[in-house]
Amino acid sequence: MVQQGNQSKTKLIAKIAAVALVYLVVGKLGLRLAVLYPSASAVWPGTGLAMGVFLIFGYELWPGIFIGAFLTNLLTAGSVLTSVAIASGNTLEGLVGAFLIFRYANGREAFRRAEDIFKFALLAAVASTTISATIGTASLYLAGFTRGLPQSRIWLTWWLGDVVGALVVTPCVVLWSNRSTYQRSWKETADGWLAFASLMLVGEVLFGGVWLPPGIRHYPLSFLCIPLVVWGAFHLRPPEASTSVIGLSLIAVWGTVRGFGGFVETDKNLSLLLLQTFMSVVSMTSMVLCAVIWERKESANSLRIAKEELESKVAERTETLRELTARLLQIRDEEGRRIARELHDSTAQALAAVCMNLGAIKTHAERDEAAPTGLISETNQLVRGALNEIRTVSYLLHPPMLDELGLRSALRVYIDGFTQRSGIQVEQELPAELGRLPGDLETAIFRVVQECLTNVHRHSGSAKAAVRMSRQNGCITIEVEDEGKGMPAEMIRKIASSNSPGVGLRGMRERIQVSGGKLEVMSNGKGTKVRAEVPVQERHAAKEAHGD
Ligand SMILES: Nc1ncnc2c1ncn2[C@@H]1O[C@H](COP(=O)(O)OP(=O)(O)OP(=O)(O)O)[C@@H](O)[C@H]1O
Ligand SMILES: [Mg+2]
Repeated sequence: MVQQGNQSKTKLIAKIAAVALVYLVVGKLGLRLAVLYPSASAVWPGTGLAMGVFLIFGYELWPGIFIGAFLTNLLTAGSVLTSVAIASGNTLEGLVGAFLIFRYANGREAFRRAEDIFKFALLAAVASTTISATIGTASLYLAGFTRGLPQSRIWLTWWLGDVVGALVVTPCVVLWSNRSTYQRSWKETADGWLAFASLMLVGEVLFGGVWLPPGIRHYPLSFLCIPLVVWGAFHLRPPEASTSVIGLSLIAVWGTVRGFGGFVETDKNLSLLLLQTFMSVVSMTSMVLCAVIWERKESANSLRIAKEELESKVAERTETLRELTARLLQIRDEEGRRIARELHDSTAQALAAVCMNLGAIKTHAERDEAAPTGLISETNQLVRGALNEIRTVSYLLHPPMLDELGLRSALRVYIDGFTQRSGIQVEQELPAELGRLPGDLETAIFRVVQECLTNVHRHSGSAKAAVRMSRQNGCITIEVEDEGKGMPAEMIRKIASSNSPGVGLRGMRERIQVSGGKLEVMSNGKGTKVRAEVPVQERHAAKEAHGD
């Protein structure tokens, strides 16, 4: 435990050190563009870095941002005190920004929906950045470093640098850490690369000033990159689109500083401020469009996956249904043959004997002789036997008691008969409060018990079984349990995936599912338990009430 605690502490310290180092590097690069005062730059990616770090890793990395900002300022201008104040402002701005994003703009998912992006822009990029600009400008003024300089312009430069830093860098940092699972086709990937390369190329033409003839290098043509940003939003994934905006921003800043592009003014700071305003619009356009387009692409993708899953399920069910229908037809044929044989070999033979006996009795009657009583009682017995056989066949086809006396009584009669035929003792728990159920449900439950007890007899080797039923909270539960050899886990899995060797349990599951219920098979190696649960729905309740 102690070791684990030390390990996580070391990891935290390493993360803080890494964040401080990265902040120092981007901070120093940003301050190289400071014009009005060495600590106030119109380009400040540190704000976006801080918000991104807090959104991804949590607030506990605040010392990394603080140390990075402190060192950046200490190594640039001002005093230890002003560096502490500025670093506090930078850290606080990141913490407040991340807090507002978590609270109101869906946290790390902020860049997936247009609505959240607008909230992020307003609350984090525009509002929370006033903290750093105000603390920074005020502390430098109070310490006497910027006396005599235009305070409002320093504040504006500071604030705008932070706003664009948040708008351009935060989405990139967060989106790369939280990529979507959408798989692109090779064509989409190629389109993406083409869009990225085109934007960089056009950026270089517009801001790099290399390929434009000297006469038109300063024309305000920067808006020409907007169509490419829009094109990129269609073909690049959100993290890539945000990276392309950073790429464009770097090219544009580099070009503007060297005096190229449409934002160049005599005042270098003003040039950068104008460029940054333009970049904030570009970044917002790219972010919002990309989010909308990818939201649509991802929904279409999820729909496609759901459709494929549904189709495979339908195919699976159709196959099961096909097998069950085939088996049903086979069983119907077998049953027909069995009944025909039964009627032919037994009932028809008995009736033929009855016919013969009646013929003999008739002969006796024609001779005015009394028929032997043995013959009459034999005929009587033959008729009774045939009657019994017809009853048995008719019972197996559809237990008549189910309609007349209801499920409970029909099950009792069936289970008693089963015990007599198989010698398996069956414990019965069939409470009287079961009441009458709709006909189709009673038949389904009866058939489940019948199939389960037949399985106990055929497969389990158990000398005992139990049938339990209960009705609670609008649900009927039926359990058939034995103490036999049980079922291997593999067989249970097969039955659950409708892959079992027989059709008995599969058919029962279908029956129960048609009634809106579910059937489970359980085995612990010391027996098998089949449990079915069926809701007695409104429809059922209504039918019941009508005594249907
Ligand atoms: N009570 C039980 N004890 C042990 N094994 C069982 C039990 N009930 C079912 N089984 C196993 O589960 C398999 C599937 O049962 P199922 O009722 O679906 O088919 P079946 O009885 O083999 O054939 P049929 O289609 O005639 O019902 C059986 O083959 C048997 O191996
Ligand atoms: Mg069976």
